[in-house]
Amino acid sequence: MSQDAPPDFAAALGLEVFDFGPLAALYRPVEAGAWRLAIGANIPCRGYWSGMKLVRAMPGLIRGTDTWMSLTPIEYESQILGVGAAQGHVVIMGLGMGWVAAETALREAVSRVTIVERDPEVIALHRELDLFAQLPGGAGDKVRIVEGDALAWRPDHPVDLLMPDIWLGLVEGDRVPEVRRMQDNVGARAVYFWGQELEIARHAAAAGRRLDAAGVEATVREFALPLVMPEGIDYPRFIHAAARQWMRDRWFAPEHAAMLDAAPNGS
Ligand SMILES: C[S@@+](CC[C@H](N)C(=O)[O-])C[C@H]1O[C@@H](n2cnc3c(N)ncnc32)[C@H](O)[C@@H]1O
Repeated sequence: MSQDAPPDFAAALGLEVFDFGPLAALYRPVEAGAWRLAIGANIPCRGYWSGMKLVRAMPGLIRGTDTWMSLTPIEYESQILGVGAAQGHVVIMGLGMGWVAAETALREAVSRVTIVERDPEVIALHRELDLFAQLPGGAGDKVRIVEGDALAWRPDHPVDLLMPDIWLGLVEGDRVPEVRRMQDNVGARAVYFWGQELEIARHAAAAGRRLDAAGVEATVREFALPLVMPEGIDYPRFIHAAARQWMRDRWFAPEHAAMLDAAPNGS
């Protein structure tokens, strides 16, 4: 190896490299008020349901000492099922790095993307970054950013999918009532909210249900939301895997954590 060759961290750590896709290259360091976009390098990250991977160049959105989000395997896996269900008019609560909006706008089945963001500094950061204008095929023309409070905003067009993502932590408090409040104002045909899998797991555990198809269905029914139930995959198994990775030591009462050791299909 030449002296100047960069070290191969993935090989050294025995990790697969995570590739976020072409969107990652559209991010660069920019700042607005208290927010800044920065690019980290060679960071090992766990997925939502998949294992550890290495992220070679990782754009992240930081406010003070809080990293609000970054383009990691967990971020991708915890939103991509919602993106896959997107069609027609999609409303996204929370702009952040705008990647969910960009990915959604790239879908042919999506005609319009409305993003509701309460912080004018995040909107200013996006004016500087100009992410949506760089999307191929003019997909960015579908995107409209509105300054407003996700909990109070009402649409002027019928909404096909509501995607709330206004939280800093993956699980914090009970977000179902907040999502219901948004949905009461929006009346979307379907809803997919960030971390819904862990919220389903937490509520199922509290009700003494297994994380199998029947337990998931009964729990979602209680949410009283038209929640996206992804088709073509064993969704309870994905919920179980995410909960095992992210809830084992936190957020579950000890007596509930035992459910994570049971296989999702009850075997
Ligand atoms: C985690 S980021 C959203 C990430 C985004 N889905 C993406 O694809 O990059 C959360 C965003 O929600 C915004 N936010 C927090 N509370 C809000 C509220 N009540 N109404 C509107 N936006 C809010 C924050 O300012 C932040 O920009």
